[in-house]
Amino acid sequence: MNKLVINGGKKLSGEIKLQGAKNSILPILSATVLTNGETVLENCPDLSDVYASCRILTHIGLKVCRENPDIIVISGTGAKTSEIPDSLMSCMRSSVNFLGSLIGRCGECSISFPGGCQLGPRPLDIHLSALRSMGVSISEEHGYIKCTVPHGIHGAKITLPFPSVGATENIILAAVLADGETEIINAAREPEINDLILYLKKCGARIQSSGGGNIFVEGVSSLSGTDFRIMPDRIAAATYMAAAAATGGAVQLNCTEGIDTDLFTVYFEQMGCRVYNSGKSVFIKSGKSIKPVKSLKTMPYPGFPTDMQAVFMSVLCCASGTSVFEENIFEDRYRHVDALNRMGADIKVYGKIAVVEGVERLYGAEVSATDLRGGAAMVIAALSADGKTTVSEAGHIDRGYEKIEQILSSVGADIIRKS
Ligand code: EPZ
Repeated sequence: MNKLVINGGKKLSGEIKLQGAKNSILPILSATVLTNGETVLENCPDLSDVYASCRILTHIGLKVCRENPDIIVISGTGAKTSEIPDSLMSCMRSSVNFLGSLIGRCGECSISFPGGCQLGPRPLDIHLSALRSMGVSISEEHGYIKCTVPHGIHGAKITLPFPSVGATENIILAAVLADGETEIINAAREPEINDLILYLKKCGARIQSSGGGNIFVEGVSSLSGTDFRIMPDRIAAATYMAAAAATGGAVQLNCTEGIDTDLFTVYFEQMGCRVYNSGKSVFIKSGKSIKPVKSLKTMPYPGFPTDMQAVFMSVLCCASGTSVFEENIFEDRYRHVDALNRMGADIKVYGKIAVVEGVERLYGAEVSATDLRGGAAMVIAALSADGKTTVSEAGHIDRGYEKIEQILSSVGADIIRKS
């Protein structure tokens, strides 16, 4: 049992070096299957999901080595197998990106349905429909997805019914070596997708992105390796900023180049915090009290990110009024609410709406992480609560946050890990 024990009530103060983005490095690791040559990735976060992806790459036949904590070197010389067993696939959702890269490289693949956070049904219909339009023949049997391309994979014009991040990534991965041109309409626009595109273009891919949800790929015959620096993690940034806000502290995040904090800073400012983004760092100072935020609706980028919903909720539990959340991306992404209520919060859920009535304070309790961001929300609530909190199943948190207890301790939190 991997758990975090937190004694709340300490104001956070100091500087944090921000980790590289989980949701950028994972599709880029999948993309290395498409390359011939060596890729050197810098600013790699030390996350269990990254190790899981590296295990899949090794299984496929690539050579992977981690020269030091934040550099991973992958030697892509083609795939020795296009089959990924359930034991490797079930660790996380992003393993689904190997669908696109294996089809793109090998013209076939057999993978089990991916794992990942339980946020409601997470079907793959958008992924599979798009790949079928590119000439991929797909059968689903006994929990496995088996793909072949009887007549080769070709470009297509694909309009997504919803700007799915994973489906957009899989289409790009399948298209870069396909025969002909692929146009994606209503593509997801998250910054991590742009990082994937930048990596692939450095490897020789021909991709244009309008920035407005249209992506155009012209297939090429091969891709080389390259050096690439992973972008900073905007979700982790918001998480540590929320921890500062919840504890009445002041924290500076360093190595934040390239993060567009405007999209979520506005909500920290509505809470009464002051935020200053210098480009290389982001500084947040909390206000004397936390003001409520009337409405927080999660939407595809550039809307308010669903991955920030839980951590913002944990701050607003002690606001001086009522805040209302609307979760529009996942069907079951309020699984952290029970734990927050156990800690004294007053949150009621009505379908996709969650109404948070601010309370005077939270109290320590025994809780269990339900998913990656929900677990982070419980840690933030515990930092501000009176007394001791134990967050068990901390492995969920380790999937997306690098050494969270060390980082929070370095800015004054009383938090230890017990296994
Ligand atoms: C990515 O998940 C992220 N994961 C998620 O981050 C993030 O919450 C999500 O995008 C939305 O931004 C990674 O990048 C590894 P989607 P993904 O496909 O690709 C439905 C985190 O905390 N859908 O955009 O799975 C789906 O059920 C994680 O870091 C279909 O219906 O997200 C969901 O309701 C959690 N059919 C919605 O679309 C499909 O074929 C958004 O899913 C695909 C998706």
